[in-house]
Amino acid sequence: MKKEIRESIIQEKMKFPEVLVKEKSLAIFNILKETDFYRKADNIMVYITLENENEVSTEPIIDDLFDRGKRIFVPLTVHKTKALIVSELKDLEKDLKVGNFGVMEPKKETTRPVDPSILDLVIVPGVAFDKRGFRIGHGAGYYDRFLPRLSEKTATVSIAFDMQLIDEVPICCHDIAVKYIITEKRLIKCTNV
Ligand SMILES: Nc1ncnc2c1ncn2[C@@H]1O[C@H](COP(=O)(O)OP(=O)(O)O)[C@@H](O)[C@H]1O
Ligand SMILES: [Mg+2]
Repeated sequence: MKKEIRESIIQEKMKFPEVLVKEKSLAIFNILKETDFYRKADNIMVYITLENENEVSTEPIIDDLFDRGKRIFVPLTVHKTKALIVSELKDLEKDLKVGNFGVMEPKKETTRPVDPSILDLVIVPGVAFDKRGFRIGHGAGYYDRFLPRLSEKTATVSIAFDMQLIDEVPICCHDIAVKYIITEKRLIKCTNV
């Protein structure tokens, strides 16, 4: 069930022309930057966009955070345990290389691990979402294992195109909801938290 939804949304998303992805990503950033949870956050974890899948671009967010002198953290996937290491990003050009799933990840020598409890805000990736905040990821459950390691007060937000919102994500016992979802059309305060 999750698999079918995941594949169909990815397929639909791939049809978006590049300019539309850019435009919608910017609209999403413009909503995000006005939120309290973004403005107040000092330590922010954000993934690096998977460009070949037309994901909402996190580039405007990363640029803005560097401009504001905030501390930025990126995930590093550990294939064996399916865990995420949180690593501080200091230099967007020099710190990263292509890692698992074709995602840009910190290099060994530029991995600067921190405890997830220091994070004020985590941007959570995903393929499909519902208004409760439940999500379908890429199918490996990395964020389901990771989110329980955050402090209760850490804000979690997923950024997605409006077409990635579905009525109801089929969930299982291990699925963890995010607190907010932002699309190019709206900010949703999720109901499951
Ligand atoms: N907290 C967890 N502990 C152990 N296994 C987990 C946990 N969360 C997810 N998994 C496993 O990860 C796999 C993928 O989870 P799923 O929710 O289907 O993927 P995704 O969230 O990436 O869409 C499942 O087989 C699930 O059993
Ligand atoms: Mg899941």
